[in-house]
Amino acid sequence: MTLIRRLSTTELPPGEITPRGVFERRRSIIRAGLAGAALGPAHALFASPGASAAAAKLATRPSPMSTMEKPTSYKDATSYNNYYEFGTDKDDPANNAHTLKVSPWKLAVEGEVAKPGVFDIDELLKLAPLEERIYRMRCVEGWSMVIPWVGYPLSELIRRVEPTGNAKYIEFFTLADMAQMPGLSSSVLSWPYVEGLRMDEARHPLTLLTVGLYGEVLPRQNGAPVRVVVPWKYGFKSGKSIVRIRFTEKQPITSWNRAAPHEYGFYSNVNPQVNHPRWSQATERRIGEDGFLQRKRPTLMFNGYAEQVGSLYAGMDLKKSF
Ligand code: MTE
Repeated sequence: MTLIRRLSTTELPPGEITPRGVFERRRSIIRAGLAGAALGPAHALFASPGASAAAAKLATRPSPMSTMEKPTSYKDATSYNNYYEFGTDKDDPANNAHTLKVSPWKLAVEGEVAKPGVFDIDELLKLAPLEERIYRMRCVEGWSMVIPWVGYPLSELIRRVEPTGNAKYIEFFTLADMAQMPGLSSSVLSWPYVEGLRMDEARHPLTLLTVGLYGEVLPRQNGAPVRVVVPWKYGFKSGKSIVRIRFTEKQPITSWNRAAPHEYGFYSNVNPQVNHPRWSQATERRIGEDGFLQRKRPTLMFNGYAEQVGSLYAGMDLKKSF
């Protein structure tokens, strides 16, 4: 995240992209199906009859927590990515992440919990009803997107493992396997990619354990098969392809904080009043709106989620706890 790079014009290989029209038709079919069914756990996986190669469909229910803003195109959301384990250019993840083996996949939960355990991805998919959550996402580099994620609140998982009274933070660990991730040969970050949240942040209903986007299972470049999404924080807090979650008493040392402590704090809440030491955070460039005459958008406090999350930080100096 050292440079702001321009949108790449590199195309994905044919078959990797679901045209938006196809996505929307499928979504309305799935929704229509759901509407007819009793709204129980809506985790049923659909085999894909359609255009996109291997993407399985996810049955979701809409969420009142979704923004009404227009989603970024599927193509932009899946071809302009940060996933340094696959390279540091925006098109590297889409070009290189095919080597990521997403099945079988296990997520270990450990640390300060009464019920530690290992969850298989299929178990995780069934843990709670899947929702479509259309969230604004703001990258610390100054660009933003609107993405229809699929998942359920991380609190559903937290509740089941019964955190102890000592659990003050949660630490998330991404897979780090040289054989699958060419970017690990670079020392740009310390691996595995580690992120963390305070318990109240992790339990907040907006914090999403995410398994899909645009009604389909997550593409590899977006963090398949399971990631976290924290929409009021800069994108790097939303760790991808998570294999381990640890509940801790001490504040975790995260990868970006370790790499550049003066630039990336533990909290990393979207805050237009606290600039990155090397650039302003007052405005943002919405991906897909780039154009000669396109004006930048003002960045909103907590990425527009101030009403929901502001109270988590009452009394804190957000210039110090940046
Ligand atoms: N997770 C891992 N494991 N590795 C990464 O490099 N990049 C982060 C975050 N999660 C990253 C990661 C950053 S900087 C951003 S902006 C978001 O993922 C991008 O998510 P997206 O590509 O799905 O939009």
